[in-house]
Amino acid sequence: MSTHLKTGVSNDTPATLEAFLAQQQQQDLLRFITCGSVDDGKSTLIGRLLWESKQLFDDQVAALQADSLRHGTQGAEIDFALLVDGLAAEREQGITIDVAYRFFASQHRKFIVADTPGHEQYTRNMVTGASTAHVAVILVDARAGMLVQTRRHAFLTSLVGIRHIVLAINKMDLMDYSAEVYKHIEQDFKDFAKTLGFESITAIPLSALKGDNIVDRSGKTPWYNGPTLMGYLDTVPITPLIKSAFAFPVQWVNRPNSSFRGFSGTVAQGSVRVGETIRVTASGQTASVAEIVTMDGSPEQAQAGDAITLRLDREIDASRGDVISLAQEPLQTTDQFEATLVWLHQDAGLSGRSYDLKLATQWASANLTTIKHRIDVNTLAHEAARTLELNDISICTLATSKPLVFDHYENSASLGSFILVDRFTNATVAAGMIRHSLRRAQNVHSQALTITREHRERQNGHRGKVVWFTGLSGSGKSTLANALEVALYQQGKKTYILDGDNIRHGLNKDLGFTEADRVENIRRVAEVAKLMMDSGLIVLTAFISPYQREREMARELIGTENFIEVYVSTPLEICEQRDVKGLYRKARQGEIPNMTGVNSPYEPPASANATINTATGNQEAHIQHLIKHTL
Ligand code: ADX
Repeated sequence: MSTHLKTGVSNDTPATLEAFLAQQQQQDLLRFITCGSVDDGKSTLIGRLLWESKQLFDDQVAALQADSLRHGTQGAEIDFALLVDGLAAEREQGITIDVAYRFFASQHRKFIVADTPGHEQYTRNMVTGASTAHVAVILVDARAGMLVQTRRHAFLTSLVGIRHIVLAINKMDLMDYSAEVYKHIEQDFKDFAKTLGFESITAIPLSALKGDNIVDRSGKTPWYNGPTLMGYLDTVPITPLIKSAFAFPVQWVNRPNSSFRGFSGTVAQGSVRVGETIRVTASGQTASVAEIVTMDGSPEQAQAGDAITLRLDREIDASRGDVISLAQEPLQTTDQFEATLVWLHQDAGLSGRSYDLKLATQWASANLTTIKHRIDVNTLAHEAARTLELNDISICTLATSKPLVFDHYENSASLGSFILVDRFTNATVAAGMIRHSLRRAQNVHSQALTITREHRERQNGHRGKVVWFTGLSGSGKSTLANALEVALYQQGKKTYILDGDNIRHGLNKDLGFTEADRVENIRRVAEVAKLMMDSGLIVLTAFISPYQREREMARELIGTENFIEVYVSTPLEICEQRDVKGLYRKARQGEIPNMTGVNSPYEPPASANATINTATGNQEAHIQHLIKHTL
């Protein structure tokens, strides 16, 4: 160690990742991730690699020595873990939040290691940190062997497309450098990983703390013939990333004056040259590139990551959200696809629920149409699932509100991965990887009908609408809907009522009152209401519809201009006193497990078009109010 200090560390250690990369243009660069927890010795391992590669600043070295004496767990020795934990402070200063990237070099190669926190709730970081890595170093504590999280890391690693694994069996010093222990863990891992499609699995017995088999071959493991960790990282072949087709999502149309018009954004993948013919994916329009404009001038070529403005040789229509490709390498679009979803939030994912989906720079609303199965990370078995819980990995189908440019994840991490965002909290709830587009996305087309909604509305003499009543059981939704229908009928309007109790005897008799079933109940009702509205009717729906998200989904599906939300706000005490069906009494006696208002939530609307409390006023006045203010 002391030789390092005497020789000092190189003073030309670059200060930023960009500077580092710029310096390394010519040189081999290996990106890898480490998976494991602090308990597995991950910080010590990374600290050791940084130390051995002599890529530390002088002040970092001095601070490390002082800190090791003061706070370290290793007596007078250097505590490498402190080095990494100390660097974590950089993270807090806002350099990167999800994943910390560290860079270092050997004589042979440069390295970028994505340090992803190991606890289960950080699965998300693992998914983001892994997507550009060539190799994953999965740490196992030799005393503990394979844990659930080891399997999880291996599985996630395979999902994000990493093909080379180092199984770093750490803390061998605490197991007397036993060959049996090593062999046992290696075999366990290989048995588990056989179906995960890795090209290589290299198990290395090591001690990050003592330095065994990190850079130098350890005398304590004479039975081991494989490479040291550094030896492996120095020589593992770097598979070239697949050359991706040019994809340029338009962020805005740049028109500073009447003589200049260009499309601005960041190249997502591939490259483009001046003179090449491009195509706007959605409209199919083509043009050739007249100029590529950047902050620094007009280069001949632009590639992935470059922020550019494309000026074309002729006027074409494209706007924010459009994706441009090369004409001879068109991009595909889909609005229905199968994907692997990693659920990242404690609020469960439900089939039938809508989320906001972001793919590259494209946004759409997306419905989780089916949960095909969940994957048990211990056995890799497929299990039936109705909901997606935190950390669940599943195969699902999704349908988006408009076609999106996409690719299979195995071809393109940027056009093949997406996130789902909750529409109310804006939390990222899932990360997904597209497996394939569903054939029905290509083969089912809308049929244009001769008689349209407008014809029917003209014949009826009024617009089609949906009046959506929401409120607790017993609040008076059905009674109000019924009275409104009578009044409309008397005016000669064409109407129909969809009522919870009735629909649940027919179309929805397979559904109960769990959260997932209620979501599906409302999804079907919204679809039916939309069809009926399209047929020219004023549709009145009376469902508890307790969740804001599903009411919003209905509003979006039906169209805000057609959708009238009526909140029947009669308080719970009154509904409970009425207890027309005796359900509240049963619920209070514990006979109904998920009665709305008692032991299942009701989320009141934030901005209903009308609010009516049936405990006050009279019905005639309520109906007059509704007709006046909503229809
Ligand atoms: S919703 O929540 O999915 O919108 P919906 O309006 O279809 O519910 O059905 C509610 C009706 O089902 C209630 O009016 C009541 O008669 C009956 N019901 C039976 N069990 C429950 C329950 N656990 N919670 C609420 N309503 C229930």
